[in-house]
Amino acid sequence: MPCPFHNPKNPTDPFREPRERDGVLVNNFQGKEIPLVLRHEDVRRVAKDWQTFSSDAPFKVPIPTEEDVRTVRQLPLEIDPPDQQAYREVVEPFFNRAKLPEVIAQMERLVGELVTAARDRASFEAVRDFAIPLQSRALAILLNVPDAEAAIWIGWGTHVFRDGNGTSKGAALEAYTNALLDRAAAHPGDDLFSALTQATFQGRPLTRQEMLGFCSIVFAGGRDTVINSITGIIAHLAHTPADFEFLRADRKRIIGASEEFFRALSPVTHLARKCTHDTAVHGVNVPAGEFVSLCFSSANFDATVFEAPDEVKLDRRPNPHVAFGFGPHLCLGAAHARLVVRTLLNTLCDQVARIDVLEQTWKSETEPSYVRRLAAESLHVKFARR
Ligand code: HEM
Repeated sequence: MPCPFHNPKNPTDPFREPRERDGVLVNNFQGKEIPLVLRHEDVRRVAKDWQTFSSDAPFKVPIPTEEDVRTVRQLPLEIDPPDQQAYREVVEPFFNRAKLPEVIAQMERLVGELVTAARDRASFEAVRDFAIPLQSRALAILLNVPDAEAAIWIGWGTHVFRDGNGTSKGAALEAYTNALLDRAAAHPGDDLFSALTQATFQGRPLTRQEMLGFCSIVFAGGRDTVINSITGIIAHLAHTPADFEFLRADRKRIIGASEEFFRALSPVTHLARKCTHDTAVHGVNVPAGEFVSLCFSSANFDATVFEAPDEVKLDRRPNPHVAFGFGPHLCLGAAHARLVVRTLLNTLCDQVARIDVLEQTWKSETEPSYVRRLAAESLHVKFARR
């Protein structure tokens, strides 16, 4: 059975074959011509040059745009420095919680409990029964909210903004978040939502729109990215038992292996930047006001940087991947995502001898020029007890 990394090569997939192309390719994406910045070097340069390639584009940093699914600008994602840095400082202490010993211990307990429960079942569907509960409950730990709140988040499915048919769930998410912030304002605790209701920005309280903008990316940015990482890793270990044994033999390998999983999975394919003035990227002219796509996934498969990029090498070193972005917008949730993945790998090594895949279906991105497999839609597996 094929696994995500044993995908047959697709020569028309611009995100997996950058080495045979120029650094920029104008591609028809979601019905719009958009230059793709493909190579590792170009992606890093463009990501750093926010004066030319701006994120000050509410709803339009994600591709496709999210004008139809939300009403608030995501913060600090959709704004440029220096305000972006000041907004980052408001929430950074919460994201840094992922490095606290008590948070690490809580995560170990949660993952231990979930893996034991999964292992005790004859089989289970890893997206619905494992990855979504793990992502939701891990986020509750990070944000310091009671585990009971995560029960609501578990019901949201993999994507918070659109259901399986593409129908918007954005209004429901904003209504829920508004109610959460009302509650936090009335009865403040030690959680992120309470902190937002009490935070100041440039000497004034945050507006409700700003608070909602922070919450929007916390719920959306850390959702499918983490869920797809978890299921991608489970699929890989099932299909490549030698890699499972390689990690079990020396747990110190788990840190580097996690980075290789983030590179190979590249859960954020690409994001947009708006050009502030006429410019050119790798010979392609981009007029002021137009967008380019920053292809993190393609950069992570650039053969001039990563030897044999299509291979998953758990001991790859160095591994300068850009799965969490690069430059001022470097992912705030990276420490948390790393904690979840490292804890998962350690716990699987402790408790699970082998993973058998019983059935799997894939989510794909279908565009005129390519079909690209993104992640598991469903993954029925059995964890064999150790
Ligand atoms: C494997 C998991 C994840 C991946 C691959 C990922 C990827 C990314 C990338 C590529 C960016 C850069 C955006 C840009 O340059 O425009 C980013 C930014 C961000 N991510 Fe993540 N992310 C992950 C998990 C999370 C989680 C769990 C959270 C929150 C709980 C989160 C919150 C954010 C925020 C707030 C930003 C904006 C930072 C800023 O604009 O300064 N991410 N992420």
